[in-house]
Amino acid sequence: MPRTIYFDYNATTPLDPAVREAMLPFLGEVWGNPSSVHHVGRQARVLLDEARERCAHVLGCKPSEIIFTSGGTESNNLAIFGTARRLKSKGRHLITSAIEHHAVLHCCEYLVEHEGFELTILPVSREGLISPQDLEKAIRPDTILVSIMPANNEIGTIQPVAELGALCRKHGVVFHTDAVQWFGKEPFTAIEQFHADLVAVCAHKFHGPKGAGLLYVRSPLHPNPTQFGGAHENERRAGTENLPAIIGLTEACERFIRAPVFSPEIMRQFTQRLAQVLQGVGGVEILSSQQRRLANTLAFVVHNSDSVALLAGLDLEGICASSGSACSAGSLEPSHVVSALGYERRLANALVRLSVGRDTTLEEVEHAASLLPQIIRRAQHPE
Ligand SMILES: Cc1ncc(COP(=O)(O)O)c(C=O)c1O
Repeated sequence: MPRTIYFDYNATTPLDPAVREAMLPFLGEVWGNPSSVHHVGRQARVLLDEARERCAHVLGCKPSEIIFTSGGTESNNLAIFGTARRLKSKGRHLITSAIEHHAVLHCCEYLVEHEGFELTILPVSREGLISPQDLEKAIRPDTILVSIMPANNEIGTIQPVAELGALCRKHGVVFHTDAVQWFGKEPFTAIEQFHADLVAVCAHKFHGPKGAGLLYVRSPLHPNPTQFGGAHENERRAGTENLPAIIGLTEACERFIRAPVFSPEIMRQFTQRLAQVLQGVGGVEILSSQQRRLANTLAFVVHNSDSVALLAGLDLEGICASSGSACSAGSLEPSHVVSALGYERRLANALVRLSVGRDTTLEEVEHAASLLPQIIRRAQHPE
């Protein structure tokens, strides 16, 4: 077996040992239900309240503005369904971009197909950038919600998100941003930096546990709940709180967000080295922007090949990569992000995303760099 070289940090990251350590008591001694009135429950309640305050402190918001969720998908669903349904008497027009994660796009499409909303999908440039002018032109009197991500998971493009958020504010439109790929990678000082009303956060992208996330909701906005039952999370998300996961999320937020755990300087060195090698391989086109991209992310397409052959070839050499979003139940569908950049379908089927991370070493990068040209050539078929 070749050694494992993990270049898929945008899909998920390993649980940090210190985060795991902090979670352990919550898988053991502390097992109460925070809603119980007795002392075992009350102990859990105190720690849950504390976790909310700790997260609020890192994010620079009020504890009441945090809803704990099961991760990025749920946070996006709650933000979009909850806000659209809450505000539908004001208007039924939504705006998003063509390169959002499916956890955003599919929510918007559902609202169009089943609940009578209208949707404008903003185009992007060849580098994946959304133009603020396009957004401003698309805003209508009946627009109630705009959802645009600050950093793209497949190609890493970084949007002028604060500017887009400010435009929405100027027009009195609620702005949601799926910041799942931002945290731990890009500078963060306070949640207000996005100029957003709703921000989705997901722990497993920055060495926290899977199944843990939060939705920041700027008060006084109050999205309708999307799941019903008890009065948890201030009646905004029913269900007994997953305290071990919430503690892991909190610990990861405290440790890895303010000073990004993916050091941009080191990440950039690694991806630039890989890009340098790829530029010399016939048939390879690098998609990720030179300037405006997550430093850890390098996406490319290969002419006369396809993602399945490329990923299998990489895996045979021990290199874990992805064809973009890994979330479609193992299926390798053409990337909607690559299509939105204006590439033909054949190339949307031939995407490879390398995403490096905290534990990546220069030695791994050099080893992969030495193998990449032959792996790619082997996966190409004659024209
Ligand atoms: C941009 C983005 N949004 C949402 C998600 C979904 O998050 P989760 O895995 O927590 O459901 C992902 C995960 O890949 C993502 O990259």
